[in-house]
Amino acid sequence: MARSTKPRSPKPARAPRRSAADAVAEEQPVATSARSGKRRATAQSMAASQRDISVSEFFAKNRHLLGFDSPRKALLTTVKEAVDNALDACEEAGILPEIWVHVEESESGRYRVGIQDNGPGIVSKQIPLIFGKLLYGSKFHRLRMSRGQQGIGISAAGMYGVLTTGKPVKIISKTAARKPAHYYELRIDTKLNKPEILNGRGEGVDIPPGKAGDDLKKKHSIEWVEVNDLGEPVNHGTRVTIELEAKYQRGRGSVEEYLEQTAIANPHARITFTAPDGMSRSIDRASDDLPPEPREIKPHPYGIELGRLVTMLQEHPKETLAQFLTTSFSRVGSGVARRICETAKLSTRATASKIGRGEADALYKAIQETKIPPPATDCVVPIGEQRLLAGLRQVVPGEFFVAATRPPGVYRGNPFVIEAALAYGGAPAARKVTLEALTELAEQSDARSLRQFLLTTFAGVGPEAVEKILAAAKLAPARVQRS
Ligand SMILES: Nc1ncnc2c1ncn2[C@@H]1O[C@H](COP(=O)(O)OP(=O)(O)O)[C@@H](O)[C@H]1O
Ligand SMILES: [Mg+2]
Repeated sequence: MARSTKPRSPKPARAPRRSAADAVAEEQPVATSARSGKRRATAQSMAASQRDISVSEFFAKNRHLLGFDSPRKALLTTVKEAVDNALDACEEAGILPEIWVHVEESESGRYRVGIQDNGPGIVSKQIPLIFGKLLYGSKFHRLRMSRGQQGIGISAAGMYGVLTTGKPVKIISKTAARKPAHYYELRIDTKLNKPEILNGRGEGVDIPPGKAGDDLKKKHSIEWVEVNDLGEPVNHGTRVTIELEAKYQRGRGSVEEYLEQTAIANPHARITFTAPDGMSRSIDRASDDLPPEPREIKPHPYGIELGRLVTMLQEHPKETLAQFLTTSFSRVGSGVARRICETAKLSTRATASKIGRGEADALYKAIQETKIPPPATDCVVPIGEQRLLAGLRQVVPGEFFVAATRPPGVYRGNPFVIEAALAYGGAPAARKVTLEALTELAEQSDARSLRQFLLTTFAGVGPEAVEKILAAAKLAPARVQRS
């Protein structure tokens, strides 16, 4: 696909690889290396190859930045992005989440992953942008707790799938019991960072009821759970299916382990997992209460950098400085606003957008010097000790359970909360660890992680045994230095 709108100069036969630069370089002075006699680049020749890099081109090349650094991680990240979105959407809509995850091998080294939720569903015309454009989402421009933030999760997973298998991303979404589910097949155009819709002449198709719908799903290797295990109809929700190059493994770092941990941290969710071998496992919810809804807050003045402050001032042309400060920030009332202005030697009635660079600097410093109460912390919602314990008990067969939730803290104006839960005893004496998992770990780990892994994974393996195992595996001391 030719996407460049610039006309290209014809390729000269003598230097085919430099064709893009030639148009500009032709009339320009060319630097010639005295020693080799080879033509070197000039500012002008370099100008011809300088151009925009689209965000999706960047991430397609640097996929490790988004969690797609190995086939095993790619599978895990894909599941995680979809599950995160499912939990976010359900919580936002006040729905107790139910999530289905189905991983199946489509051919050797390739897996088809389908993740469905019972969330509010997605309006049809939004689907292509959400799944086929990086940096598109509803959570970035607000200060509120959610799993996703950047608008880069599920579209990146879809892009990875398209890049590695060429297979489109398939999305079914249903917004109400009476409305038919809508179905899209699309892929991301990485050059332009926009979706290319492949079915229904760019509009997608409605899934008809009955046999016609079943045939359509079968033909496109997609599924839709219509009734849950309890016999309740699934009237709304979203299912995304991505085929990707991946590696499925059990045990540590597996999809199943991730889902177990998700169930612990989200005891209000019900999760059903179907593995490539057809085995299905449901983790029921341990609590029927939705966590309280986090409240959106404004930024706290202590967390704002100077450049951002200048932009914000420009964005409020009609406000006085006092109005600007009280309406744009959390915890700034008229008293605090007055004190900030006094310290900055600025009038509270000055027009916000007319504040100059030097004055903005004074304002910034005055903010740091003024005592302002810490931000409200109800934009973060702890899981809570009771719910954490319930989640842990549901998943881990321990004997002793304990959980702790700290009061929210603040870092650079951003509230955060730390919670921890611990289960002890009762677990099976040893985990099953596959040779594959062990090999991957050995390749990635330093000595300390390997020792730790051996010590904590197997019952009855003490420090001495660890050394013997490492020596026998010829992993010490040559490959693995004591750290
Ligand atoms: N399963 C879903 N149900 C409802 N809305 C969804 C779902 N998945 C994604 N979305 C919407 O699509 C947006 C983009 O998702 P994503 O690319 O994962 O970015 P992020 O989660 O960081 O916002 C979300 O902000 C949300 O509004
Ligand atoms: Mg997301």
